[in-house]
Amino acid sequence: MKKLFLLSLMLMMPVFAQASGGPSIQLDSIQADVTDKASLQRGMQTYVNYCLGCHTAQYQRYIRAAEDLHIPEELVTEHLIFSDQKIGEQMTSAMDPKLAAQWFGAPPPDLTNEVNLRGADWVYTYLRSFYADDSRPYGVNNVVYPAVGMPNVLAELQGVQSKTCGEVAKFDDHGAAVIDSLTGEPITEQSCEVFSVAEGTGNMTPAQFDATIYDLTNFMAYMSKPYKSDSQRIGLWAILFCLMMTVLFYFLKKEFWRDVH
Ligand code: HEC
Repeated sequence: MKKLFLLSLMLMMPVFAQASGGPSIQLDSIQADVTDKASLQRGMQTYVNYCLGCHTAQYQRYIRAAEDLHIPEELVTEHLIFSDQKIGEQMTSAMDPKLAAQWFGAPPPDLTNEVNLRGADWVYTYLRSFYADDSRPYGVNNVVYPAVGMPNVLAELQGVQSKTCGEVAKFDDHGAAVIDSLTGEPITEQSCEVFSVAEGTGNMTPAQFDATIYDLTNFMAYMSKPYKSDSQRIGLWAILFCLMMTVLFYFLKKEFWRDVH
């Protein structure tokens, strides 16, 4: 018994290790909603306008997105396909990955599965965490992905963010402000995660930008699991079917055994 207990503890070790070594960056949390078609439509629009030039989504076909997102096919062809691609094709871009790797230091990865790999919170926070940094080739850095090779392609919307260090209130593990017992004043500490957007550099308000990135992340969550809404619907029918069969078999069994007793 003791051995079994020890063994199960050992098996759980990696879980503990991961929990303690978790990310030091606080990710902003969102709830992706692949049933919100309007949000997915806006997200797709942002994706093809701002991302597809560098990042393919090679496991996503335009036509499948048109069906799932309820966008008429002619609108997709007219407004969402910029290359000479056909609606039946996968969402791939024209950029040569080798050249891209030369320009950016790393090739832009395919993003069809990105939300599965990193999580929606990570993607949502990453896209909002670029800040001006003159030491980087493209003049920007990212809090979530330090020394990233991607330029801040959304700067015209968000504006130029700067990472300013400042004194912020200190909170304990329970989220309560820490108070200096002598002076009764809240204790402050240096923090470098305070962002400010330079006035007049972006054409969206912070709330509008957050909403745009939510929609974009939502679309990427859909691409990671395009079958999710289908599988939820089919799953429900499958369970109902099983329940019905259970009732049916129960009465069948009763019928069969009636003569035996
Ligand atoms: C000009 C080209 C370019 C554009 C446009 C671009 N990216 Fe990137 N992106 C890159 C490059 C290059 C990397 C790889 C950076 C690295 O590994 O250092 C990258 C990395 C990423 C990553 C991190 C991938 C990972 O997990 O390692 C995400 C997420 C991402 N981009 C999302 C987007 C989204 C969403 C858009 C559209 C708003 C976008 N990118 C537009 C070039 C681009």
